Amino acid sequence: MKKAHTGKNKITEVSSPKGMRDLMNEEYYSFQGFFEKAQEVAVYYGFKPIETPMLEHQELIEGGVGAGTDIVDKEIYTLKTKGGDHLALRPEHTAPLMRAYVEHGMQTMPQPVMFYQYGPVFRHDKPQRGRYRQFWQFDLDCLGNDKSIMDALVIKASMSILEEAGATDLSVDINSIGDKECRGAYLKELTSYYRKNLSGLPAVDRERMKTNPLRILDSKEEKTIKLNEQAPDSISFLCAPCKKHFKEVLEYLEEMNIAYNINKNLVRGLSYYTRTVFEIIEQGGNEDGIPLALGGGGRYDYLARQIGSKKDVPAVGFSIGVDRIVAAPWYKKLSPRILKKPKIYFIQLGAEAKLKSLNIIEILRKAHVPIAQSLSKDSLGSQLSIAEKLSIPYAIIFGVKEALDNSVIVRDMSNRSQDTVKLSKLLEYLKELK
Ligand code: HAM
Repeated sequence: MKKAHTGKNKITEVSSPKGMRDLMNEEYYSFQGFFEKAQEVAVYYGFKPIETPMLEHQELIEGGVGAGTDIVDKEIYTLKTKGGDHLALRPEHTAPLMRAYVEHGMQTMPQPVMFYQYGPVFRHDKPQRGRYRQFWQFDLDCLGNDKSIMDALVIKASMSILEEAGATDLSVDINSIGDKECRGAYLKELTSYYRKNLSGLPAVDRERMKTNPLRILDSKEEKTIKLNEQAPDSISFLCAPCKKHFKEVLEYLEEMNIAYNINKNLVRGLSYYTRTVFEIIEQGGNEDGIPLALGGGGRYDYLARQIGSKKDVPAVGFSIGVDRIVAAPWYKKLSPRILKKPKIYFIQLGAEAKLKSLNIIEILRKAHVPIAQSLSKDSLGSQLSIAEKLSIPYAIIFGVKEALDNSVIVRDMSNRSQDTVKLSKLLEYLKELK
């Protein structure tokens, strides 16, 4: 848009906001097919659906995702309503999910409570290939249990979804960033390392020293990447329970033959994580062959308290970046269930027939007979040629005579043989066709 849409300015160019697009045609079906498959896998693993609002209180997102993260510092979309509320478009699903858990008192239900959810999320990110400002995530989360098998379950179910979508070369990047017992000592060591190397630290990362020093580990700055090679790693600082938890998660992965790589610099861009953090990588990568993080997740045992709960709710989850899946060269183009190949092409001729056409189409729909039509066309030739082009095996021809007789002509497009069939017998007749 050349001019801002303020309501006062004249629109000079018709376009959607930058980084936000219309989903349609093949891309729409690709998304829908993926969501159907992902839900199916999630349901087999025992996850139940939930859908939280697209807008949340700004303080929930800021408190949940945390200061010092790119999301809160740069990418959050906020608005003040006419009633004076400060709201934010959700930049992810996890803080809203935990809000729902606490708000509905789900602590009283049998634990863990397992949810899947999917939908658009919003981040004022720099748009580029595979990076949008409105994008779609599919999440799996187990809330209310701190056992390592929950981490393994989330990883396994996520891997299965990605494999069903066509990914073949998956591996897990994994790390443990400890809990409140051991993280303090680690952070002290880490900040002291950066302080010693302050002159080599770019300004953005120096800023992070104050807000969120852990994030320096996943800095994209070249100088910092070099410094990080020698930085102390969190695993060496884990307390005994965290060490045990991490060891168990890795044992589960080995038992399931899931390839993993311990990445000591993996901290993830959200501040609510404790213990396990992970990303699933497709080694084959995108069109340029660059390995792609298809999703990320981890444990977030303190998020509940961070957003105002009186009690901790141990939890673990994962989020798949769906835009990246459907654009990947290996994506299987999962077809949504509602898409049916038409078996019949409906042709109408003359005003009397056109008048009754929609009634016949409704009879076919109710009987689940998939059809195609071009009701706006009038001539037999143009309608037949579309049927041929679409390679539809049968045509129903409904002309003036048939409209008066309450019948139709059914034409076999392969050999051009035809039968006249009474409307009352049509469904029976169609059932007999191959
Ligand atoms: P995240 O790593 O921020 O985690 O996002 C998950 C995935 O969303 C990324 O791995 C990526 O595939 C995709 N993604 C992120 N930003 C963009 C973008 N601008 N355009 C397109 N795709 C993008 C979370 O959001 C956590 N809530 C995950 C989680 C669930 N942790 C626990 N439960």
